Amino acid sequence: MLRSRRLGVVMRSKQQAQANAARHVAADDWEATFRQMALYDFATDVNIGFVLAYFRSFAVPQISEALLATGEITQRPGKRSTDTGIVVYEIITHGFDSERGRTMVSLLRRVHAGVPGTDDDFLYVLISLLIAPLRWLDSHGWRAVEPTERAAAHRFFFELGQRIGLEIIPSSYDEAAVFFDDYEASHVAPSAAGIALTTSALPAFTIKLPYLVRRWDREILGALIGDVRVSVALGLPSPARGLTAAVRALLWVRNLRTAHSAPSELPVFASGAATTIYPTGYLLSEIGPPESSR
Ligand code: HEM
Repeated sequence: MLRSRRLGVVMRSKQQAQANAARHVAADDWEATFRQMALYDFATDVNIGFVLAYFRSFAVPQISEALLATGEITQRPGKRSTDTGIVVYEIITHGFDSERGRTMVSLLRRVHAGVPGTDDDFLYVLISLLIAPLRWLDSHGWRAVEPTERAAAHRFFFELGQRIGLEIIPSSYDEAAVFFDDYEASHVAPSAAGIALTTSALPAFTIKLPYLVRRWDREILGALIGDVRVSVALGLPSPARGLTAAVRALLWVRNLRTAHSAPSELPVFASGAATTIYPTGYLLSEIGPPESSR
């Protein structure tokens, strides 16, 4: 266990604990529990995990080749990564049974119709959205993830998988983790497609880094991924020990501050809000690849 996480657990202030209790959601309300995690309590970390999952899928040649073939990531990398985030956060924010949630699930079904890939490939991409954020939290989160939260996160992606038509989905977080590791052990490999996608998608990652460290964007992405096999597959340099240590130190300071500060009252995602890609906000009909390629 990393020191930062231990410290985060120990340092959770009384004030923080009380505030969390006040916003308590029933343990069996998995949608609300995961919403609370992703939008408030672990907002930054869950977002980092989603970004890492996005890049990680490029480390599987058959997935990266299918993605490269449509040209969305190479020709419109900013829109593609923004839209991917919007789809997931719209569902988290409004719920599967809301109109916006249903619209996003329909979009997912539509854009994947005809995309080449095995059931395992689709399951892997789905499960990576669960495992990457949770493993990131286990290593770098400001406090430990509670069992009800882990179960809620699993339940959320189980539901998403069912709604987009996957037939076999691991029935617990632990089973999902085993599937994820087994799949990666036999599928992660370097490929020209994976390297091309990483190069195209990188600027959308770089822009989020503090200006002074942007020149080390590839090394930083490698350090955050924290898995040499995946970094090699993406054509990223192995992070120097000093850089990894610096990232850990920054996270340690961040965790210390988070543990002592008042919980965020504002969600990390606001539906329809302006972004670099949508300077005046967006309509759900604008999300996704052009109509002709769906
Ligand atoms: C079930 C797991 C998956 C989830 C949750 C998922 C998520 C997404 C999301 C959110 C989008 C919308 C992006 C946009 O709005 O532009 C998208 C589009 C797309 N996905 Fe997936 N994806 C999954 C599996 C896969 C797999 C396994 C492949 C390839 C083998 C794939 C290939 C594509 C393609 C080709 C598009 C259309 C946009 C483009 O051409 O890049 N997806 N996916």
